[in-house]
Amino acid sequence: MTQKISLTRYLVEQQRIDGLIPSQLRLLLEVVARACKSISQAVNKGALGGVLGSAESENVQGEIQKKLDIIANEVLIEANEWGGHLAAMASEEMDGIYVVPNRYPQGEYLLLFDPLDGSSNIDVNVSIGTIFSVLTKPEGGGGVEAKDFLQTGSKQVAAGYCIYGPQTTLVLTVGDGVAMFTLDREQGSFVLTQEKMRVPADTQEFAINMSNMRHWAAPVKRYVDECLQGKDGPRGKDFNMRWIASMVADVHRILTRGGVFMYPWDAREPHKPGKLRLMYEANPMGWLIEQAGGAASNGQQRILDIVPSQLHERVSVILGSKNEVERINNYHRQI
Ligand code: AHG
Ligand code: MN
Ligand code: MN
Repeated sequence: MTQKISLTRYLVEQQRIDGLIPSQLRLLLEVVARACKSISQAVNKGALGGVLGSAESENVQGEIQKKLDIIANEVLIEANEWGGHLAAMASEEMDGIYVVPNRYPQGEYLLLFDPLDGSSNIDVNVSIGTIFSVLTKPEGGGGVEAKDFLQTGSKQVAAGYCIYGPQTTLVLTVGDGVAMFTLDREQGSFVLTQEKMRVPADTQEFAINMSNMRHWAAPVKRYVDECLQGKDGPRGKDFNMRWIASMVADVHRILTRGGVFMYPWDAREPHKPGKLRLMYEANPMGWLIEQAGGAASNGQQRILDIVPSQLHERVSVILGSKNEVERINNYHRQI
């Protein structure tokens, strides 16, 4: 019988063989995985655990918070604040950064997260997830500040997500490809179920919220319009569409079988570059997709090269199968 490889063993081996993971980063990833396990339990209980519904509060982005948004945020903070591996954390659900309290040792890492992605799907029992990104605190200086987080996505040292769907699955990169771990509930541990995930370069599947079509910019309209024309149009093939409204679930599908995901700028709120957040949604997902051979851009440039000017910065997102993302980038250049 082939031996099961747990997340712990995978990380130890990455540390030992490839020297890719310093011990503090390994601890950090184990703690994040443990927190995700506990969020997964809360998600599974649903109405029985009293976790559904709105919390009747708003986050800094003006979005109504769900109870699970707040629970997941607390679980991640409580799990991570005492281990000595972190200097500070930033989250979609917190206005400013959360500096590790003085009573605990401070480490060199910065953790960013979207504690609960796909909040509109919580109450309807559709897949949701947690997205995370790890940076290193810049050298020098005294205490940690919000500006220490303002690094490009290319500086990430680890990124991943955990999807709470029919299975609970953790997907991770430390810069050496993408590995997938499935939660074995009997054992209580994440088990390696796929290594070196690859996004095929071509696809016949796209994901976008079509209800916003009339608000899109011309290059995005052109791309989707050509897909919709199918066999009879310039693409000469039929396309399928999926939109789950949980970025984790859409990205998970793309990592598994290819596709292209778009949440582009639109004219509903023209001053905002997009809906999704750069630092804890687009950057980690962009890096995972690149590590699996795909591409991630905002139409003009690579997501991972964007220099953030604020923690909750938004961005237009186009990611997935490489040839499709390049085609959409070309359409942006032509108009
Ligand atoms: P969050 O729940 O963390 O605010 O993120 C929701 C995001 C993303 O997961 C998804 O792709 C998108 O919002 C869905 O937006 P629409 O409801 O506008 O389709
Ligand atoms: Mn989100
Ligand atoms: Mn969220």
